[in-house]
Amino acid sequence: MRKTVGVDDIAAYVPKLYVDAEDLAEERGIPPSKLIKGLGIEKLAIPDAHEDAATMAAMATLEVMEKNDLSPKDIDFIQVATETGPDAAKPISCYVQGMLEQIYGRGSFDHVGAPETKFACVGATYAMIDRLAYIASGWNRAEYSIVVATDIAMYELNSSGEPTQGAAAVALLLKENPRLLAYEPRLTGFGTVDDRDFFRPIERKTAVVDGQYSVGCYLRDMRIAADAYKRNMLELGLLKHPRESVADKIDLAAFHSPFPKMVQYAFASFLIHDWRGLPRWKRILEEIGPEPSREGLTDVEFYISDEYKNFRRKFTRTEEFRREYEDKIEDSLIALRQIGNSYTASVWLGVESHFEARADDLAGKRFGVGSYGSGSSAIVCSFIVQPDYKEVVKKMDLMEKLNRRRRIPISVYEDLHEGRLNFCESVIPPKNEFSLVSLGKRSHDMGYRYYKYVK
Ligand code: HMG
Repeated sequence: MRKTVGVDDIAAYVPKLYVDAEDLAEERGIPPSKLIKGLGIEKLAIPDAHEDAATMAAMATLEVMEKNDLSPKDIDFIQVATETGPDAAKPISCYVQGMLEQIYGRGSFDHVGAPETKFACVGATYAMIDRLAYIASGWNRAEYSIVVATDIAMYELNSSGEPTQGAAAVALLLKENPRLLAYEPRLTGFGTVDDRDFFRPIERKTAVVDGQYSVGCYLRDMRIAADAYKRNMLELGLLKHPRESVADKIDLAAFHSPFPKMVQYAFASFLIHDWRGLPRWKRILEEIGPEPSREGLTDVEFYISDEYKNFRRKFTRTEEFRREYEDKIEDSLIALRQIGNSYTASVWLGVESHFEARADDLAGKRFGVGSYGSGSSAIVCSFIVQPDYKEVVKKMDLMEKLNRRRRIPISVYEDLHEGRLNFCESVIPPKNEFSLVSLGKRSHDMGYRYYKYVK
């Protein structure tokens, strides 16, 4: 018999500093409405001088262990997904293991597997599938595995990507018979294309991005993955006919959010594709006019053409779209508007945001996840919310954490961005947290990162 596997709990870590979108807009001479309404961004999470992707990952992992009273022997794997790790050879997961051993004792985690996974923003979703498959196979030797998503999104100062920066880590606690989300493995759809929308050569701190083009790649890959998901639904009999809607079978969903408006683009594009041919689509076309032609255009060219964007914009104003969006998507963005992009952590913050915001009973509902990573690949998958999920949600506190942060002036943000503050010159000195404390300077440890739990 197949095992039920999935996500038992989620813990998020967000840096204590943020830049307000209005401050950034004013400094850059952009209308604030462009960031707040146009992109959907209100605040950008900014790591302090002593933080990096490894400390954030360790903080999220420690929290998920502490709140579930776990000890190292309960953990089989600590697998970390990141695209902003500090080392090209040593995985962040091993730094995380070392930091956790400062709390749980030297050697306490020496039995765990600890690989790092990379695929831009979709890396953690790939890592989660790997680990769940391992648990489902029965190869695991301890009950739990932890997958951590951790990233710092950075673009050049004054670039069009700058307002879409952010940072966070999320630890997903995985096990058989989870309390939160049971994975539906046979429905998962993938969409992968070798592309150049966004990348970061090893020597660079900031990403190289072709902004509008990357939006088209996101929409193209998500459509390929959604088509695969639909084929799987048909094969398993969850849909009886290709003309049936996938969206009608999904109760709520979170998408990767480089900026919240992108989630609206993605959901609208998904519905346009899903509803084409349904009776309701005829009525919508009567209101907004015909779909533009794709003739002579590649998928990406079509998705970023003015004709398609205008059509999509009109669709997002229909009553049918508004209702679906408010019911199924909007709550995932409450936290994301306050964080910005956190690359591979983003979609999982959206999942937690939904759980913290929704007061209605979600037990038994199908929770869709649309994960995208540049380069490029999308995963469309789903979970069933478990009967005891409220017990887990009771201890989630992402919104509280976001409300406790400190707003920093643009000059301080720029100092942090440009690395002008040394790791011992933090804006808020570390307390009860992991901190980068030194960098190796001798021939045998040149550039090695030393971390400490600071009480
Ligand atoms: P842009 O080109 O400056 O913005 O930056 P725009 O011109 O596309 O405008 C965006 C929206 O703002 C539009 O809304 C405008 O109308 C509106 P829409 O019409 O589409 O609904 N707007 C205004 N609204 C109110 N008041 C105003 C105003 N002005 C305009 N005054 C871009 C957008 C995405 C290109 C840029 O932010 C960027 O380069 N970001 C970085 C790349 C990115 O985030 N790409 C997203 C897809 S790729 C991805 O998700 C993967 C990634 O996370 C990396 C990974 O996988 O590792 C990036």
